[in-house]
Amino acid sequence: MLTGILLLSLFSFFNDHAVRAASEQMVGIDANLGLDRGAAAAGDPFWLESIKHRGSSAYNPDPTYQVFRNVKDFGAKGDGVTDDTAAINLAISYGDRCGGGAKACNSSTITPALVYFPKGVYLVSAPVIAYYYTQLIGDARSPPTLLASDNFEGMAVIDADPYIPGGDGAQWYGNTNNFFRSVRNFVIDVRRVPPERPQGTGIHWQVAQATSLINIVFEMSIVPGTAHQGIWMENGSGGFIGDLVFNGGKYGMWVGNQQFTVRNVTINNADTAILNHWNWGWTFQGVTINNCKIGFDLLQGVGAVAIVDAVVRDTPTFIRSAAAADATLAGSLVLNNIHIKNVPTVVADGNGTSILSGGARGVIKSWGQGNVYSGTSPAGEFTQGSIAAARKPSMLLDSAGRVFGKTHPQYEEHSVHQFVSVKDYGARGDGATDDTAAIQSFLRRFGGRRILFFDAGTYIVTSTVTIPAGTRMVGEAWSVIAGKGKAFADQENPQVVVKVGEKYSCGVVEITDMIFSTVGPAPGAIVVEWNVREPYGQQGAAGMWDSHIRLGGASGTELELANCPPRAPDTEPCMAAFLALHLTHGSTAYLEGTWVWLADHDLDGDGVSQISIYSGRGILSESEGPVWMVGTACEPDSLCAKL
Ligand SMILES: *[C@@H]1O[C@H](CO)[C@@H](O)[C@H](O)[C@H]1NC(C)=O
Ligand SMILES: *[C@@H]1O[C@H](CO)[C@@H](O)[C@H](O)[C@H]1NC(C)=O
Ligand SMILES: *[C@@H]1O[C@H](CO)[C@@H](O)[C@H](O)[C@H]1NC(C)=O
Ligand SMILES: *[C@@H]1O[C@H](CO)[C@@H](O)[C@H](O)[C@H]1NC(C)=O
Repeated sequence: MLTGILLLSLFSFFNDHAVRAASEQMVGIDANLGLDRGAAAAGDPFWLESIKHRGSSAYNPDPTYQVFRNVKDFGAKGDGVTDDTAAINLAISYGDRCGGGAKACNSSTITPALVYFPKGVYLVSAPVIAYYYTQLIGDARSPPTLLASDNFEGMAVIDADPYIPGGDGAQWYGNTNNFFRSVRNFVIDVRRVPPERPQGTGIHWQVAQATSLINIVFEMSIVPGTAHQGIWMENGSGGFIGDLVFNGGKYGMWVGNQQFTVRNVTINNADTAILNHWNWGWTFQGVTINNCKIGFDLLQGVGAVAIVDAVVRDTPTFIRSAAAADATLAGSLVLNNIHIKNVPTVVADGNGTSILSGGARGVIKSWGQGNVYSGTSPAGEFTQGSIAAARKPSMLLDSAGRVFGKTHPQYEEHSVHQFVSVKDYGARGDGATDDTAAIQSFLRRFGGRRILFFDAGTYIVTSTVTIPAGTRMVGEAWSVIAGKGKAFADQENPQVVVKVGEKYSCGVVEITDMIFSTVGPAPGAIVVEWNVREPYGQQGAAGMWDSHIRLGGASGTELELANCPPRAPDTEPCMAAFLALHLTHGSTAYLEGTWVWLADHDLDGDGVSQISIYSGRGILSESEGPVWMVGTACEPDSLCAKL
């Protein structure tokens, strides 16, 4: 139901704005932050386990609603013997959350949860059901194992959108509206499930925007004829997955989606590493394939696939695609910087006939398949062969010449004593109190010195708050900072809600698991102004991961169905922002899994009713680079992106 989506794939950056500014104007050079003095001791758990838990949901009618849940507090044993399915699902569902079944719920922003798994082996015999607005996070220092029992029944070990039994294909959540989910730091082991049973599937991940899978190892059978699968995704509307390893199985991933980004995945010993059954646009950045029969199977008619920076070893066929004779089946495909070792066939058709042969060793710099258009003629000519390589400015590449990538920081090496919590310093996060002064003094006092923990909540600010260069800021199940009031009322004189670094400042900034927003009307709000630039030689030091700009459509925003029904004649009360994200001149940014969304429907209420709210602009980039936007998107503004 979401139309007009503009996906900023990494190709957006292959343009000439990515030229390092000649003048290195630097203010506030990043000190070493002293963080190295606070390393966790060898036996310590992940800081997230032991930090004080006082996250809350500002607009939940139950003031005792609990955001953080440790599965062991709900009876899970993690001993590899006890069946922990019920305890884990209780930890997830506890507190009248948004789930299917008897009490159907399409979406909700008022029941967020961070479900934490200490190290251990959790035996499960049925799916762990990942409710809407849930982060499932394992101990990043010692990732827990979810072990499927030999009698496992169900679609997958983790199921993000269950089918309702006897529901004639009906599911808990709408596939293109299944937002706000993340799963991190697990080993998912299905090897006890008999190999011929496709129930041996790791994750059913049928999701949409603002979703991620990070740092997961999938262990599957390597018996010939195995039916095991790592990820199963029939469709959906976008998201990001990265830093995954798949061992064994029939398919590492069997996936289809409107648009999606994958970064840094390794698939070992699968029959088919990746089966892509349909899409509008899919970017695979940094793929390693070892000892599979087929690398990518694209025979089922895909829309547009870009595979950038792959290493393929000991695999008879890298790509299975349609023959030129079947041009209607053969979607657009771009291969860029593909290194092969012992890959006899790089591209074959469905009959096994070679389209591009390989060999013992080689590099495919650039190869494409699809329609080539000339002038204004709508008639494309189908082409399969070498194409001119995209120009990739070196500032975007790592030392090996691959597009640079940086994993979502989790600070697993750091002791809990390195963290300070904003709720310890006077901020309430209750969606009502003006937290401007508390947040500003917290940022000034600790930015660059400690890791700043924003406990779950909605923090209202009534004038600009500045996140200084040097700040590491961590949210909890998407903590919200929202601008409200007079300061953001004048579109002739727009004001910044959250300023990231002063103009031309330089230093580390890492923002994770946050949402930046407004309470309407806010026609003069520039929601995020990003000024900071990475220190010379520290690629990706200024960035944001799994953090979003969400405008309206959620409780407390006053840009909801009651205030802003579709096409209400009075548009003034429904102005959400002047501009969502401004990357200023002199800034650099690494944005991974960032969704800039002007809501087209209300996530609370029935979860489907359309609303009409307005924002002047989406993303404005005046940066001269480098800017990486990985799995990052903006919708539905017609002025979504100006780069
Ligand atoms: C998504 O996939 C399921 C299973 O194949 C199918 O039943 C459903 O119609 C699909 N939905 C959309 C919107 O394509
Ligand atoms: C890629 O993923 C692996 C394994 O998950 C991880 O160890 C590595 O640091 C990641 N590399 C990058 C560049 O993100
Ligand atoms: C197999 O080869 C035939 C004859 O060249 C061709 O028409 C057909 O498209 C090929 N099939 C596939 C699935 O590639
Ligand atoms: C969920 O959405 C469907 C339409 O897709 C609607 O019929 C239903 O009423 C909604 N459920 C709830 C609980 O609001």
